[in-house]
Order: sequence, then structure tokens, then C-alpha cells
Amino acid sequence: MLFLFRSGAPSHDVGVDLGTCNTLVHVRGRGVVVNEPSVAAVRRSDRSVQAVGLEAKRMLGRTGSDMQAIRPLQGGVIADVDVAEAMLRRFLRRATPWKMRRPRPRLVVGVPSGITEMERRAVRSSAEAAGAQELYMVAEPIAAAIGIGEPVDTPVGTMVVDIGGGTTEIALIALGGIVADASIRIAGDVMDRAIVLHARRQHSLLVGDSTAELTKIGLGTAILEENPRVMEVRGRHLVSGLPRAIEMNSTEIGRAIHEAVQAIVAAVVRALEQSPPEFAIDIVDRGIVLTGGGALLPGLPELIHRRTNLPVRVADDPLTCVVRGTAAILDDLERYRMVLRT
Ligand SMILES: Nc1ncnc2c1ncn2[C@@H]1O[C@H](COP(=O)(O)OP(=O)(O)OP(=O)(O)O)[C@@H](O)[C@H]1O
Ligand SMILES: [Mg+2]
Repeated sequence: MLFLFRSGAPSHDVGVDLGTCNTLVHVRGRGVVVNEPSVAAVRRSDRSVQAVGLEAKRMLGRTGSDMQAIRPLQGGVIADVDVAEAMLRRFLRRATPWKMRRPRPRLVVGVPSGITEMERRAVRSSAEAAGAQELYMVAEPIAAAIGIGEPVDTPVGTMVVDIGGGTTEIALIALGGIVADASIRIAGDVMDRAIVLHARRQHSLLVGDSTAELTKIGLGTAILEENPRVMEVRGRHLVSGLPRAIEMNSTEIGRAIHEAVQAIVAAVVRALEQSPPEFAIDIVDRGIVLTGGGALLPGLPELIHRRTNLPVRVADDPLTCVVRGTAAILDDLERYRMVLRT
């Protein structure tokens, strides 16, 4: 019965960027329908997921005794399979209100290029539990390159640096494959943690992760600025134990995240050193493209340019490159079959 209905109706094609910080879901014909933090609110007593996304993120660090806000992805990979599954299932249900009789979707999911077999299994079980019929995985930097319209299936090399929350992935892509790459688990989250530490050490101020992230977005910089920006940062003062607002500036926040920024630049240099000389012309001509939320850090393109002497540009709308790539793949599965892993 179910089968009869299935064979005739059109299928739903769904592209997913299951990121450490943000999950995006693209549905063919409708665009990006989910763009929310990868956070789930879990009830402690029975481990059931009560809310996901923005609603759950608002609870991060401020939940009562029975409710816990969890980020099921850490360092770019699924750390808590059950919660990730439940979260993805909810996002997909929200994105595709398909009925029982409608065909289940084809899914393309962006995954870190250095994904292990165990992590791959976690993605697969999440997708299956979420109702996917066919599942394809694509390395995130390749998806990002496709998302910004780079010719990844030609012999011309494209150098992409995707700086997310959990991982920075650098890849030289040509003929649908990765020619040289580097992946480090240093990205936005590590910068946030460095800011938490800085606030505690330098200002005796206890701040939460969300405040640290907002401080990074407001004051973060990869290079020293002539006219430093300032901002009030709120937390709990360690000495008085009371809430307090302290003024911080972009010079100190730049210093606080300096180590993480340096590690990212060093990884870019490493990937360039590993690149076959045949691609030097392409890289010199076409430069390096930055994607992911970390690409928005002021001064980062400039710093990478200074270190490498290569043209560096930030992709349009860097936070959606990967999901746009998964959508483009679904639009032309035959063309992009070479980049997919089933
Ligand atoms: N203006 C900004 N300046 C600096 N960092 C930013 C800015 N905007 C967003 N970010 C950071 O970008 C990161 C999120 O980027 P993105 O959504 O690409 O990551 P992700 O895909 O969820 O993670 P990953 O790819 O590692 O799994 C967060 O750390 C966020 O704080
Ligand atoms: Mg990402």
C-alpha cells in the first residue's frame, strides 16, 4: 500500500549542514527552511529532547534542575548520538512536513573531511532515524566550494578554508576530490573558551559561553586595530559574587583569541605546503576563499593574505555555503556523484 503511493509521488530532496554551532536544512524548491543553533534541551530525568534550536539555546547555561541544554556536536563531530538524532529528526520534521504516504527524502549531509567510521555511523543512524531514504555524505569543504559556485569537477584547483565552530577545514579541491587538506579542531568555539578564560583571569568576571561568543562577534579581531572597539560585557564578579558589567576592548579580545587565530593560519600554510606544485598557478591566480562563520572575524582575510601573499576573499554569506552546496548537489546528482560518499 505504502509502496504504491511512494512510487508515483515526487521525492523531497533535503540538504543538511549539521554543524557544531548551527544546523541548516535546505528543501528543494523552498530554500533554507531551518537555520538554527545545534542545541537541544534535554530533560534530565528521562533524557528526552524537549526543544531544539534557538529555543534550546536560550536555555544554555540558564536552565533549571531538570532541564539541560546540550550541544550534541563537539569539535565538528557527533559527540552525543542519541541527542543529535533527536535534534536532527525534529529539524527535519519541521522542514519537511511530509506525510506517511509521501516518499521519504533523499538527504545530502555535509560532514567533516576527516570523519571517522564511527562518526559516519552516527550520521547514518541519525539520518535513518530522521526518515531519510537515501543518504549521501559530502566533505564539508567540497560542499562549501560547490555552494559558492566553484568549478570543483574540473582540473582547476580551488582552495577553500571553512572556519566553523568546531573545526577549521582547509582543502584544495580538483576533479571532485581533495588534493591536499588540513583539518584542525580549532575554530570559533576555542576562541569563545579563550574569552571565558580571559574574562576570568584579567577581570575576575565569570561569563557564560553565549556571552563569550557575543563578545567575540562584537570585539574579535585577527589583527590589531588602530581604533579599538569597546563593549560592555556582563557576567558575575568573582570577588563580590554579584552581577557586573565590565568594559572590554578589541585589543584584549584580539590577544585572547590570538593563539587560535595563529593555529588557523598555520594550518592554511601547512595545506599550501602540501599542495602539489601543479596547482600553484591556480592558487596564485584564484586565491583562497574563506567560508563558515569564522570567515567573518575582522582582519582574518588580511592576516592570511599577509602570511601567504595570496589573494584571499570571504565568500558571500559564508554561514550558508555548505548547505547551499548540498542543495546544488541534489539539483544535479549525476554531475556531482564523484564527490559523494554513500
Ligand atoms: N562576525 C563573526 N565574527 C567571528 N566569528 C563569528 C562571527 N559570526 C559567527 N561567528 C562564529 O562562527 C561560528 C559558527 O560558524 P558555522 O555556522 O559556519 O559553524 P558550524 O558549521 O556550525 O561548525 P563546524 O563547521 O565546525 O561544524 C561560531 O563560532 C560563531 O561564533
Ligand atoms: Mg560548518
